[in-house]
Amino acid sequence: MKARQIKTNVYWVGAIDWDRRLFDALIPLPDGTSYNAYLVQGSRKVALIDSVDPSMTEVLMAYLENFPVVDYVIANHAEQDHSGSIPRVLAKYPDAKVITTPKGQDVLVALLLIPEDRFITVSDGETLSLGDKTLEFIHAPWVHWPETMLTYLREDRILFPCDLFGSHLASTDLYVADEGQVYEAAKRYYAEIMMPFRTSIEKHLEKLKSYKIDVIAPSHGLLHNKASFILEAYRSWVTGPPRNIVVLPYISMHGSTQRMVEYLVGALAGKGVTVKQFNLAATDIGKLAMALVDAATMVIGAPTVLVGPHPNVAHAAFLANALRPRLQFVSIIGSYGWGSKAVEQLTGMIPNLKAEVLDPVICKGSPRDEDFKALDNLASTIAKKHKESGFA
Ligand code: FEO
Repeated sequence: MKARQIKTNVYWVGAIDWDRRLFDALIPLPDGTSYNAYLVQGSRKVALIDSVDPSMTEVLMAYLENFPVVDYVIANHAEQDHSGSIPRVLAKYPDAKVITTPKGQDVLVALLLIPEDRFITVSDGETLSLGDKTLEFIHAPWVHWPETMLTYLREDRILFPCDLFGSHLASTDLYVADEGQVYEAAKRYYAEIMMPFRTSIEKHLEKLKSYKIDVIAPSHGLLHNKASFILEAYRSWVTGPPRNIVVLPYISMHGSTQRMVEYLVGALAGKGVTVKQFNLAATDIGKLAMALVDAATMVIGAPTVLVGPHPNVAHAAFLANALRPRLQFVSIIGSYGWGSKAVEQLTGMIPNLKAEVLDPVICKGSPRDEDFKALDNLASTIAKKHKESGFA
């Protein structure tokens, strides 16, 4: 197969995975994904930047048939969707060395059993000359593993950031054409993978301000030839204030929690608060994660099962806790039949959310007038808190 040229002697040699629908046996991929690898041909040396998922090794190897020599394999990130084909590449090029961070070597040896003598480790800011092209390595721990680095091709001003700025999107386009589509896919990717590492990403974004970047070439999805589009999107997700939004994940078993949810949603909407309601029996958790990027408040709608919260709701609370969104306020509403510790159990499951817990509204059986009044009060409190915090 013929590699696709990005700039003179810089090629895309990746694989498009149109049919993959789940990542890490957890994350929905409604639009498939791609594993982007790149080949940089300098006047003296040749480097392959990242590889592809092991399920698509043959696609990469077909591209490499046109390149008799590869001197270096740059491993920006050790996760197998980018590193998994490296052993095959090393077998094809017995003199090639893997360039990575010291931590990257440690992880790659553990995951792929690559012999230690195949590695050269690089420090932050170190460069590697390929002749007329120079690679600079920028250590970027915790986007989203601790060993990660970004590679910057100085002469062509291309940043290869691996997962960072990526999106799970299968497409034959090389560059972003439909910004709306890519914005959604990149936001979903940020929400699911990067959001827990906001603090690290903020520092990396600051560091990247000193680089002139013409192209951002991530290892999933489309390339950005307008770098400011994705950099500004990331800045807004990472450092922007939360918005006047309530995320409401819920389950209802016999209709009582459903009625409470519908009532609260109406009350909040009447006060000018946007609500994003997710029935956890049917929702795509990626959409829930995306909504958490912007929301100021989460209200969990939880019926009680065996004294605790419904397991689907517990799953959503666990997920929100792991993703560490910018939520400022949290509350719980729901119904129980004969006894409940749902509130205690749910609030105990979200220690990472540094959010103020607003008075829950829990009722026995069907909600009555006093319960609806309590929901009105909760809506008023949320609207007031959002206004006082400058979110509305
Ligand atoms: Fe796309 Fe963290 O791997």
